[in-house]
Amino acid sequence: MFNIRHARPSDRDSLYGICLETADSGDDATHLYRDPLLVGHIYAGPYLAHAPALAFVLEDEEGVCGYVIGALDTREFEATLEREWWPALRAQFPDPSDNPAAERTPDQRLTRLIHHPNTAPQETVETYPSHLHIDLLPRGQGGGNGRRMMTRLFSALREAGSPGVHLGVGGRNARAIRFYRHLGFQELAQGPGGSLELGLKL
Ligand SMILES: CC(C)(COP(=O)(O)OP(=O)(O)OC[C@H]1O[C@@H](n2cnc3c(N)ncnc32)[C@H](O)[C@@H]1OP(=O)(O)O)[C@@H](O)C(=O)NCCC(=O)NCCS
Repeated sequence: MFNIRHARPSDRDSLYGICLETADSGDDATHLYRDPLLVGHIYAGPYLAHAPALAFVLEDEEGVCGYVIGALDTREFEATLEREWWPALRAQFPDPSDNPAAERTPDQRLTRLIHHPNTAPQETVETYPSHLHIDLLPRGQGGGNGRRMMTRLFSALREAGSPGVHLGVGGRNARAIRFYRHLGFQELAQGPGGSLELGLKL
């Protein structure tokens, strides 16, 4: 019933939709943002455009209902995005940094990341140079698809020579934190905005 395959450029709208519909600590964030594409511009689009070999989707008869996306070399990926992804978005969305943090709207908090993207700590990338994001719509959750998707990405990362992978998860996303720990991820550090950084040796 569920199939995992490589993502294609034509999956872009599905990836952006899934990204938004899981962006509130795993729940639908559609009501939180005025611009429905912003979350995807930051957390999904870069991977489909610049690391397609490590982008996989989950599909059923209704269509694409999940993805796992990653980057082999986080530092190199950050540099690629600086050159090839952020400039066009920076031209489109003004930097809200002059607006005091407490007054920023949810859209402005995201827009700020376009101008000032989070970068992985050096000690993290030394041991866990790769990173990933996984999001499944509710109909794809809870039946083993998360594990299958992660296994698929881990194999691709291992084949490409990666010794380890890290990820960030919101501190309020208790379900995802338990899922990652169950798969063997260890806590590395507190990340930005109350998030947790977890790592797994491959
Ligand atoms: C988090 C998520 C990827 C997990 O995928 P899933 O398909 O629901 O999980 P699976 O059914 O594959 O579970 C895999 C294993 O983890 C275990 N597991 C899953 N969630 C768990 C939880 N909350 N607590 C303990 N174990 C859990 C399962 O029991 C299963 O164990 P087994 O394979 O040893 O039998 C998925 O629920 C999801 O996309 N949620 C919404 C978006 C999200 O929060 N993404 C993460 C953002 S950082």
